[in-house]
Amino acid sequence: MSFDQFEREVATQDPSLEDWNGLPPIVAAEPDSWSSGLIAREIAKVPVPSTQPMPGTSLGSGSPATLAATDVSAWFGSRKVLQRCSLRMEARQVTALIGPSGCGKSTFLRILNRMHEVIRVAKVAGSVELDGVDIYGRELSVTQVRMRIGMVFQKPNPFPAMSIRENVLAGLKLSGTKSTDRDALVEECLTRAGLWTEVKDRLNEGGMSLSGGQQQRLCIARSLAVRPRVLLMDEPCSALDPISTRVVEETIQQIADDITIVIVTHNMQQAQRVSHQCAFFLVEEQGVPGRIVEAGATDHLFNQPSDERTLAYVTGRFG
Ligand SMILES: Nc1ncnc2c1ncn2[C@@H]1O[C@H](COP(=O)(O)OP(=O)(O)OP(=O)(O)O)[C@@H](O)[C@H]1O
Ligand SMILES: [Mg+2]
Repeated sequence: MSFDQFEREVATQDPSLEDWNGLPPIVAAEPDSWSSGLIAREIAKVPVPSTQPMPGTSLGSGSPATLAATDVSAWFGSRKVLQRCSLRMEARQVTALIGPSGCGKSTFLRILNRMHEVIRVAKVAGSVELDGVDIYGRELSVTQVRMRIGMVFQKPNPFPAMSIRENVLAGLKLSGTKSTDRDALVEECLTRAGLWTEVKDRLNEGGMSLSGGQQQRLCIARSLAVRPRVLLMDEPCSALDPISTRVVEETIQQIADDITIVIVTHNMQQAQRVSHQCAFFLVEEQGVPGRIVEAGATDHLFNQPSDERTLAYVTGRFG
């Protein structure tokens, strides 16, 4: 199948482009000046080609990397939804983003792999660096960024017309990555995603033939196949039953040795089970943008938080 055919098939199957982390950008961000001398990007109104990476500049591959967000603010149109959020998401750690609905967790997560900019009116200011490389730098393409910083969504989204095996390999085709041994890669990724033993005898069946929890692990396997350094997960278990949730959590713990993980969750037990550090987001009053009130080791945030609002949230007294 040619890249064009493949891209058409993807578009036909799943019109929501935000559901895929390896697609070329719909719109590209242009560096722009913004208030206070911050580096800012306003989303171009018309699609422009993505910039090609400059020789010698890359986001690396293989090993986990530290993602550092500094003074990240975000807007939808003129409405500011995030205010100067800074957070270091350390290599080999799971970072959980917690906070009440609407406080900007998903927006923050999407900024971490340039998904925010698929929304026409979206703007972002501040910086995001992967091991010191600016992911919004002109020398990097959006595709390159999303290959290294993958994303798993709330609702499992395997490509319905593809088999389990084809789903795992889908990102390779889109990114043009050559793999010498595809069977070995399929086995490796499905094993790491905790799904291999359940599907090894049915790799040619459709991805949609799996249960919800299996589909979510298939999506994790698909993300792993392009060898990301960071995996972003937006409430990956919210549509799953407790047993599937547990299996996905085990998967997260296993892959965390190799990949930096950032997970949004409303489940406080899950945050405590899977994460090493947590950031608590909050809209302090109606109409103001969300902020990170407190971030730190998960144990600390849950047992001795510095801010009383954090304590109130993690103990279920509001939100
Ligand atoms: N596409 C959009 N266009 C305009 N406003 C948006 C868009 N997406 C989100 N927002 C607004 O941005 C703010 C932050 O939303 P976001 O989805 O990041 O919150 P969240 O913390 O992930 O919430 P939840 O826990 O309910 O998923 C909200 O006020 C929301 O209404
Ligand atoms: Mg959300």
